[in-house]
Amino acid sequence: MKILSPSILASDMLNIGSEIAKIEKSGATYVHIDVMDGVFVPNISFGMPVISAVRKCTSLTLDVHAMITKPERYIHDFAVCGADIITFHLEATDKEGILKAISEIRKEGKEVGISIKPNTPAEEVYPYIELVDMVLVMTVEPGFGGQKFMHDTMSKVAKIRSYAEKIGKELKIEVDGGINAETIKIASEAGADVFVLGTSFFKSEKPVDAKELFSGL
Ligand code: DX5
Ligand code: ZN
Repeated sequence: MKILSPSILASDMLNIGSEIAKIEKSGATYVHIDVMDGVFVPNISFGMPVISAVRKCTSLTLDVHAMITKPERYIHDFAVCGADIITFHLEATDKEGILKAISEIRKEGKEVGISIKPNTPAEEVYPYIELVDMVLVMTVEPGFGGQKFMHDTMSKVAKIRSYAEKIGKELKIEVDGGINAETIKIASEAGADVFVLGTSFFKSEKPVDAKELFSGL
C-alpha cells in the first residue's frame, strides 16, 4: 500500500487547522511532523506543543520525524503529545540509545521508525530492521524543506527493500526530501511506499490528490 505523508514544515503555521484540513482532503493518511533541535540538524523547527495542536485537529496518523540528538530522552513526551509513529535517526545516538529508543517506543505502543541520512550506508540499518516498522531513507540532507532530491539514495532504498524481503520482514520504507510527482515514481520503483511531500504539497498551485499522485506508480 502506498502512503502519502504531507510535511507541515512547508505549511502555513498561522493556519495550521486549515492546512491539516487540506491534508485530509487530499486523501493522505499520515501527517509528517519534522521536529528539529538545532544540534542534530542546523535548524530549529517545532516540538511538543505543535504535535499536541495537530493531534487535537485530526485523527490521521501522526508521523513524527525526530531530528534530535539522543532521541531516547523524548520518546514518552512524543507519545503523550499524540505521535502514532516515532522515527528517530540512527546517527543521533549510540547503539545503546538506539535500542533504548526502540524499546521505549514499543513500550508506548507506537510504531517505530529509524532513519538514515544520505551518507549513511544502508547496511548500518540492517541490524535494526527486524525491530522496527519503518525505515526512513532521507533523500536530502535533513534540516530544511525545498531541497533537491538526491538520486543516489535510491540504491539504498532498493538494498533495504531486498534485505527486508530476504529476511521475510514486512517493512515500510519512507522517503523524505524533494519528493514530487516525478521523483515519487523513481522512489516507488526503488521500493519505497511512504512518501513525504513538503514543498510539492503545500506550495503547489493545484491541490494534491493522493489517488492521482499514486495512479502512475
Ligand atoms: C527535511 C524534512 C522534510 C521536509 C521535506 O529535513 O525531514 O520532511 O519537510 O520537505 P520537501 O518535500 O520540501 O523536500
Ligand atoms: Zn521529515
